[in-house]
Amino acid sequence: MTFQKKILSWYRKNKVEFPWRLTNDPYKIWVSEIMLQQTQVTTVIPFYNNWIQKFPTLNDVANASDDDLFKYWEGLGYYNRVNNFRVACNEVIKKYNGKVPSEKVELMQLKGIGDYTSSAIASIAFNKKNYVIDGNVKRVMSRILCLKDYSKVSMHKLSNFLSENICKNNPGDFNQGLMDLGRNICKPKNPDCNICPVEFSCQAKADDSIFLYPKTKPKKKKSPHYNVGVGIIWREGKILITKRKKNTLLGGLWEFPGGKKNVKESIKECIKREIFEELEIEVEVLNFITTVEHKYSHFSITLHAYNCSFAKGKIKCNSADAWQWIKPHQLDSLPFPKANHYIFPHILDKGVA
Ligand code: ADE
Repeated sequence: MTFQKKILSWYRKNKVEFPWRLTNDPYKIWVSEIMLQQTQVTTVIPFYNNWIQKFPTLNDVANASDDDLFKYWEGLGYYNRVNNFRVACNEVIKKYNGKVPSEKVELMQLKGIGDYTSSAIASIAFNKKNYVIDGNVKRVMSRILCLKDYSKVSMHKLSNFLSENICKNNPGDFNQGLMDLGRNICKPKNPDCNICPVEFSCQAKADDSIFLYPKTKPKKKKSPHYNVGVGIIWREGKILITKRKKNTLLGGLWEFPGGKKNVKESIKECIKREIFEELEIEVEVLNFITTVEHKYSHFSITLHAYNCSFAKGKIKCNSADAWQWIKPHQLDSLPFPKANHYIFPHILDKGVA
């Protein structure tokens, strides 16, 4: 059996029926591929299902409010994906009359779609012979072809192999099979070579040198830790929230005003200073609410929350995209970073009016 036939028959026997594998709708396949960028399949499943229920078509995305889109992405991270996706949906409506284009070159021109995603959509939704190269495929290929690195020369060999071996009749299944094989069998550590369908095509296996491939990268730098103070600012039974600037970490989500503590100041001083810098208002920092710890993908924080009362000033948006006063019960309907969520129950229980 050829390489492609082995991959295909393995895929058909072992395929996991993810919800995006039960449809041919290119919009839905596109949603899944954007969600799957940087996020594990098992995490994506509930987000995908909720998203498709709320936004069943590309027009629903184009017509949705920012808050709704972000609410349905809340917790998935890499929030730029939402902004880009909305822009791309509008491009498809304008340029292609609402029909997702089928060619890789056209897909590549849409915001947020790169080499991998364009090939995935073209092959899975339109049966185009574009091979995909993601982290899993790279690892499988590094072993099959004994590639010690991902230099230009190695990537050239890898691309040549895939372009010769991709299944012409079923490129989508071939691509998904190879990705699944990497995720489930040809794992980074302790690959299950004994049940690998392409064991006999694997040069590293033949040399008994699987452990050499792929070459391990130096460990990533430790992500930074921030000590942050935030104020729950009350006025007439409402609290003040601000929207993080787009294109920043967690951009597009709402939050409680505040910021990073300087070495020499107390948390209370930090909250007062940050709120003045951010919004040009003065607050009185009142009682301590809670401290929470949370780890995001790029950093971790210790978040200290205090009740504050609004003292004086006219709100200006110096370092936020928007602000609004809301009733505490509205907190759950708006998109917030995870760490803020831990504070919600304390506000609802103990809020000062
Ligand atoms: N990773 C990203 N997209 C995938 C897909 N469609 N199948 C398997 N793994 C994937």
